[in-house]
Amino acid sequence: MNTYSPSSDQFTPAHCDLHFNRVGYGAMQLAGPHVWGPPKDHAAAVAVLREAIALGINHIDTADFYGPHVTNALIREALHPYRDGLTIVTKVGFVRGADQSWMPAAAPQQLRDAVHSNLRKLELEALDVVNFRAPGLDGADGSSIGEALAVLAELKKEGLVRHIGLSNVDARQVAEAQRITPIVCVQNHYNLVHRGDDALIDALAAQAIAYVPFFPLGGFTPLQSSTLNEVAAALRASPMQVALAWLLQRAPNVLVIPGTSSVAHLRQNVAAGGLALDAAALAALNAL
Ligand SMILES: NC(=O)c1ccc[n+]([C@@H]2O[C@H](COP(=O)([O-])OP(=O)(O)OC[C@H]3O[C@@H](n4cnc5c(N)ncnc54)[C@H](OP(=O)(O)O)[C@@H]3O)[C@@H](O)[C@H]2O)c1
Repeated sequence: MNTYSPSSDQFTPAHCDLHFNRVGYGAMQLAGPHVWGPPKDHAAAVAVLREAIALGINHIDTADFYGPHVTNALIREALHPYRDGLTIVTKVGFVRGADQSWMPAAAPQQLRDAVHSNLRKLELEALDVVNFRAPGLDGADGSSIGEALAVLAELKKEGLVRHIGLSNVDARQVAEAQRITPIVCVQNHYNLVHRGDDALIDALAAQAIAYVPFFPLGGFTPLQSSTLNEVAAALRASPMQVALAWLLQRAPNVLVIPGTSSVAHLRQNVAAGGLALDAAALAALNAL
């Protein structure tokens, strides 16, 4: 399992010239507690980002509202000038309140401001992929996202955004967005014990659109399951590695972006890309 290289397993979405290694990295955990303020150990955060690249990761997920601005500033500090082939995916549609709250910010000028802020903080002239993070803090709320997508499509025409994705959306919202502009990826809450998107994953796979589960390891409260522990023990892997391997075998369009502030965990997560789940393991995990 230790010799796994992320570049050995890639997915290229339709309408897209980006070749994603299926094991990526989510930068949200690099900000301070509650995704607010600086990391507790700045040097360690920079080291995690540099190790991600050294391990062969070419897909980093971020947002200017992580910190706010903290993870983007860390990515720039650690990785700029960016290696060819690195895809940084960011999100717009939310801002943070002074009380650390998460507030929808999807008016046209707010979206424009967010794209420009990401460009400045990441020191880029164009953003590879911008996900519109739709409203709802507990799953998709089903509201119309057409106006926001029209703004992102304009920003794409202006050359500031190369590809457009969605986050926290249902199938109807995906279809609404696709009537406005091609969609290359969808990032929603999904993991071993949170599988509400099974039909959506299959529908997106049929269209060669990437599905990027957020909270792949359970998020702020990592997954805990005796079955997961038993499967992991039998495979001589860690429970988190098994959770990632299960996502990777779920469908070829699934890209994982586990978040960690630890180089040791990062190495384990990358190695999970080489973990094969046998039929008994899959049966036990699918029955969770
Ligand atoms: N679109 C959205 O609305 C949205 C929402 C949430 C997240 N996201 C994105 O999705 C990414 C992934 O989600 P997430 O980071 O919140 O949650 P996650 O990847 O499900 O889990 C992160 C948690 O798991 C721990 N962890 C990571 N690797 C581990 C390992 N090998 N062994 C044990 N524990 C491990 C981390 O702690 P340590 O730091 O100690 O390793 C952290 O507490 C985020 O970074 C962000 O980019 C998007």
